[in-house]
Amino acid sequence: MNVCVVGSGYVGLVAGTCLSDFGMNVICVDKVKEKIDMLNRGEVPIYELGLGELIQRNVKLDRLHFSTDLKEAVQRSLVIFLAVGTPERPDGYADLSQIEAVAKEVAGYMTEYKILAIKSTVPVGTAKRIREIVRTELADDIEFDVVSNPEFLREGAAVNDFLRPDRVILGCNSERALAVMRDIYRPLYLLETPIVSTTNETAEVIKYASNTMLAVRISFVNEIANLCDLVGADVYQVSKALGMDKRIGPKFLHPGPGYGGSCFPKDVSALAKLSEDVGYDFKLAKATIEVNKRQRELVVEKAARALGDVKGKVIGLLGLAFKPNTDDVREAPALHVARRLMEMGAEVNGFDPVAMDEAKKNIEGIKYHKNAYEACKGADIVIIATEWNEFRDLDFARIKSLVRTPIVYDTRNVYNPKALKDLGFTYLATGRA
Ligand SMILES: NC(=O)c1ccc[n+]([C@@H]2O[C@H](COP(=O)([O-])OP(=O)(O)OC[C@H]3O[C@@H](n4cnc5c(N)ncnc54)[C@H](O)[C@@H]3O)[C@@H](O)[C@H]2O)c1
Repeated sequence: MNVCVVGSGYVGLVAGTCLSDFGMNVICVDKVKEKIDMLNRGEVPIYELGLGELIQRNVKLDRLHFSTDLKEAVQRSLVIFLAVGTPERPDGYADLSQIEAVAKEVAGYMTEYKILAIKSTVPVGTAKRIREIVRTELADDIEFDVVSNPEFLREGAAVNDFLRPDRVILGCNSERALAVMRDIYRPLYLLETPIVSTTNETAEVIKYASNTMLAVRISFVNEIANLCDLVGADVYQVSKALGMDKRIGPKFLHPGPGYGGSCFPKDVSALAKLSEDVGYDFKLAKATIEVNKRQRELVVEKAARALGDVKGKVIGLLGLAFKPNTDDVREAPALHVARRLMEMGAEVNGFDPVAMDEAKKNIEGIKYHKNAYEACKGADIVIIATEWNEFRDLDFARIKSLVRTPIVYDTRNVYNPKALKDLGFTYLATGRA
């Protein structure tokens, strides 16, 4: 089967590559020529474990192609996956301009039956809206279907998540489209992956409900951590014990500097806005947004308190990506903390194993270093903002000899507090008073 994926970012590139690995002929399209040129040269524009090898394999097998030519891609494909960005607008709503523009363009190239499969995360009603756009744009009475096929992959584990998802959601009102989509996901069906077939609207709600649920869990445990700080309890043990309860489970109960990334912040906000529009005050979504904002700010306050006067102080900032194993810095707590401390007059020396190039595009003023130890030189506080594996076993005796003041702020609770205190550090963490 011939399919194309419009938008070759974190989702589109992984989805397109994995679909080609299922045996489909795939064209990944992007409007950014440099990205497509890179891919055609064999370079991968994003950092994602295992993606380069999978691309290479399927390009060799002639099943995976990269192009800026949407017209040719549409005309060759039965299914057009839409994987463009849906970022947050300043008013909190999802910005649908990219997906609407693509739908319009796709319609202009359609000469026979096509399926538009929405992979982007979109508010309820978007599939209906895309259907209207395509219908209006289509010159002839050509048939088409719109399927809501939200994506649940996590950056840092995206290839594995796509190839072994917990479930596949197919929202549509057409048996014909459903049969084609089931065929596409057949390799997963054989692995007994549940396929949930439902309406477009239900599929759209499922995606927002999933991300909001995870954000709520993170914010909940962050609030428990803040309480632990005040009452002298250890959130590490609390969350471990919480997770032992089978009704609760251990995932997404790790406290830290708040969630970030390109999904949770914008999706929780879009859900709150969407609810408002239909007359429902979604209090939990709104509270989650507030708790998350406060959590980042609490990191700034705790660091500032430890430093006394922040002006002229030096911060060794370890980790810039919003989480390990990605170069994505969108809404990264580390960048918020860096920005706020620099506003107060601090100097920030940063290091991240892969996200420094992305950070340079998103924030000014950080001085970048070639490893964690260089970033700690002369520091008045070392802040571990992202729990990369290489920050889990740092030589703190060496760091002690490099810093100006021995304070470590382990925002992700990676270290044993006693071990660092024994080395003579003032140890700050999240909820481990
Ligand atoms: N990143 C994640 O972890 C993740 C996970 C699940 C779902 N999602 C959702 O998937 C969608 C895409 O997210 P992403 O992180 O891949 O975004 P991204 O910004 O990394 O990629 C989007 C790509 O679309 C391209 N694009 C925009 N307009 C285009 C056009 N008219 N024609 C061709 N290409 C165009 C951009 O150049 C960019 O390369 C979003 O809705 C997001 O919420 C993301």
